[in-house]
Parts: sequence; structure tokens; C-alpha cells
Amino acid sequence: MKSPLPVSYSKMKQTRLVLPPDTNHLDTIFGGKVLAYIDEIAALTAMKHSSCVVVTASIDSVDFMSSAKVGDALTLEASVTWTGRTSMEVFVQVSADDLLAGQKVMTTESFLTMVAVDQNGKPTEVPRLIPETEEEIRLYETAPARKEHRKSRSTLR
Ligand SMILES: CC(C)(COP(=O)(O)OP(=O)(O)OC[C@H]1O[C@@H](n2cnc3c(N)ncnc32)[C@H](O)[C@@H]1OP(=O)(O)O)[C@@H](O)C(=O)NCCC(=O)NCCS
Repeated sequence: MKSPLPVSYSKMKQTRLVLPPDTNHLDTIFGGKVLAYIDEIAALTAMKHSSCVVVTASIDSVDFMSSAKVGDALTLEASVTWTGRTSMEVFVQVSADDLLAGQKVMTTESFLTMVAVDQNGKPTEVPRLIPETEEEIRLYETAPARKEHRKSRSTLR
């Protein structure tokens, strides 16, 4: 059995410059581009926690609250919020920072479920998570309800 790890062990932060090829006619970033960034940082965070290759099993609904435009700094912050036997829930928050105007806005946030897999692509055990801060404990305790919600959503088809 692997040793439990605190949330802080795998927490990650990335900042990216929004460039013209990433944007639409309004010079704001494509939603799909932001989704790719979210998926990437969630994978890195889950790989760090598990020391394994991971695959994305699920991405919860993603709402875009505000846009990011060319020249903005897009910052993504990710942390593991809950672990099962082989799965990890990862929370990603994305904000857009207009560095010239000094204005920062929340762009979107999402929960993803990443699964650790072995060399044959079979799910493999991950270390248990130790939530430490008030916020980490809150997200850990609310994770089973989100898992249930995901399950009920998949039975709607
Ligand atoms: C995710 C995947 C590895 C699960 O494999 P599986 O044989 O169904 O394995 P299991 O049923 O044992 O599930 C393994 C874990 O994944 C979780 N899981 C499986 N499907 C899930 C889903 N849709 N949403 C959330 N969690 C899911 C299970 O709850 C389980 O978690 P636990 O071990 O912590 O209890 C497999 O479906 C897969 O490889 N999917 C493709 C992933 C991929 O390629 N993603 C990139 C985009 S295409």
C-alpha cells in the first residue's frame, strides 16, 4: 500500500500568455483551448500525486464565466481533492489577468476524474489523500456527493 500524501504535495500552478492563434474573431480565447489546458494540468497534478500514468475518465460540466483576451495571462491552479482506489478527483480553477490594467477575473473552474493506469492501461491503486486546510477538507468531504451526481448523470442517457 502506498503512503498517503497531502494535497500540497501535488498542487500545481501554470501561467500562459493568450496569443492570437488561440483566439476567435473577438480576440478572446477558444473554450476548447482552455479545456485542453485544464485537462493537461489535471493530468500533471494526478501524475504527481500517484507517480503513475493517468487517463481522464470524466470532466464535469464547465461554465465559462468570463473570457480571456489576447495579451491576458491565463492562470490555472489545480489540486487533488479526493482519491478513491484508483481514481483521483482534481479541481482546476482558471483566471484571466489583464496585466496592463491590473484586473483579474475568474474564467472558469472544473472537477475532473483522473484514473491511474499501469503499463497495460489497467487501473492501479493510488496513495490516499490527506486534506489539511479548511478548504481542502471541505472539498474532500463534498466529493462523494459530486461522485453520486456524476453517476446519476451517466444513467440519464
Ligand atoms: C477510465 C478507465 C481507465 C476506467 O477503466 P475501467 O476498466 O472501467 O475500470 P473500473 O471500472 O475499475 O474503474 C476504475 C476507476 O475509475 C473510475 N471511473 C470509471 N469511469 C468513470 C467515469 N466515467 N467517471 C468517473 N470515474 C470513473 C471508477 O469509479 C474507479 O474508481 P476507484 O478505483 O477509485 O473506485 C477506462 O474507462 C478508460 O481507459 N477510458 C478511456 C480514458 C481516456 O482515454 N481518456 C482520454 C480521453 S478519450
